[in-house]
Amino acid sequence: MRIGIIGCGQLARMLALAGWPLGLKFSFLAEPGDTGDCVRGLGELVPMPDGFEAMAITELAEKVYTSLEKPDVITVEKESVPVDLLEALKKYCAVYPDPKAVRICQNRGCEKEFIEGVGAAMAPKIVVNTAAELKLAIEQLGFPVIVKTCEDGYDGLNQWKMDTAGDLTEFLESRDSIVESVVEKRVNFSREISLILVRAADGRTASYPATQNWHEGGILRASLAPAQDIDEGLAKQIQDLTERVLGNIDYVGVLAIECFVVDGKLLVNELAPRVHNSGHWTQQGAATSQFENHLRAIAGLPLGSTEVHGFAGMVNLLGVEVTAQTALKPNAFFHTYNKSVRPNRKVGHINIVHNDAEAMKKQLDATIAAIYSD
Ligand SMILES: Nc1ncnc2c1ncn2[C@@H]1O[C@H](COP(=O)(O)OP(=O)(O)O)[C@@H](O)[C@H]1O
Ligand SMILES: [Mg+2]
Repeated sequence: MRIGIIGCGQLARMLALAGWPLGLKFSFLAEPGDTGDCVRGLGELVPMPDGFEAMAITELAEKVYTSLEKPDVITVEKESVPVDLLEALKKYCAVYPDPKAVRICQNRGCEKEFIEGVGAAMAPKIVVNTAAELKLAIEQLGFPVIVKTCEDGYDGLNQWKMDTAGDLTEFLESRDSIVESVVEKRVNFSREISLILVRAADGRTASYPATQNWHEGGILRASLAPAQDIDEGLAKQIQDLTERVLGNIDYVGVLAIECFVVDGKLLVNELAPRVHNSGHWTQQGAATSQFENHLRAIAGLPLGSTEVHGFAGMVNLLGVEVTAQTALKPNAFFHTYNKSVRPNRKVGHINIVHNDAEAMKKQLDATIAAIYSD
């Protein structure tokens, strides 16, 4: 069976690495600017056809499907993919997750509407399109806020924290106009957690235990799983949120939900219609990794157990040069993405597993300290 992946970054790499033992073959669609370094040697790397911008979507879909070597299933490894192309590709093979789910997650405004629609809680927010609307929204919400563009935002990109009227003035003076954005009340969370869920084509679902995450400048730096000290109330909210989301979206594959915990209350931050950085620990920390389970789901194979092996931690390698030689320990595992190092760029991660929660956290903290001395 051949899997076509739209995108060729590290998530595509780790999907392919998980899929080869299952006998799956891969083709990757590289968009302009993608080097393909992450997936080199793991399958066919196919560039977007020449002149694709001017092509009718039906013609483009046929060209893409054929050049991807006629995959049996097409999936995505990032959010910013041409959804119309995904829709058109459904004529040729299964496309999972459904492009409609990808479309919802591509625009923060639509995503938040969906979250609201399923009855899940989130930070107060207002969608704005003009400077006047932005000012009014901040008046209503009150500082501190965070402004995020509705599209093209990831890893803290295209978002601005504002604490004072001066910050707002400075922001507005630095640009001619503003694009559609979500203004959100900045919440004082006690922690961030994420949920990694998977649903198979036959409707069966599985979920990994909640992961606790730490971000720096909007970029994930480290995760720990299972998140500790989840009391009964929070566990109930996690269960309820999982059911509400999966019950309201026609979805096949892995889906991630990022959340804040504020005064014991679970608030949804955002959804990701794909395997997620906060699920990388599952490569060593769970019976089946999120990558394998995504493939099992989209390929119509039985889902694998999400049972965890003790306690797991993950440290992202962000713009730092770390080698296997220094990273590896009997219980520390190195994953490099074959990328050149640039400031803050995700170039790899280290997974740690331990049968003792405290010892794992200690090792996780020591690993973070060794890599990032700030
Ligand atoms: N409303 C908020 N209140 C407090 N912190 C926030 C809020 N929104 C985002 N953040 C912080 O910024 C990080 C990145 O924001 P997020 O909305 O997840 O954007 P991205 O799509 O770039 O991941 C979050 O993980 C969190 O640490
Ligand atoms: Mg996020």
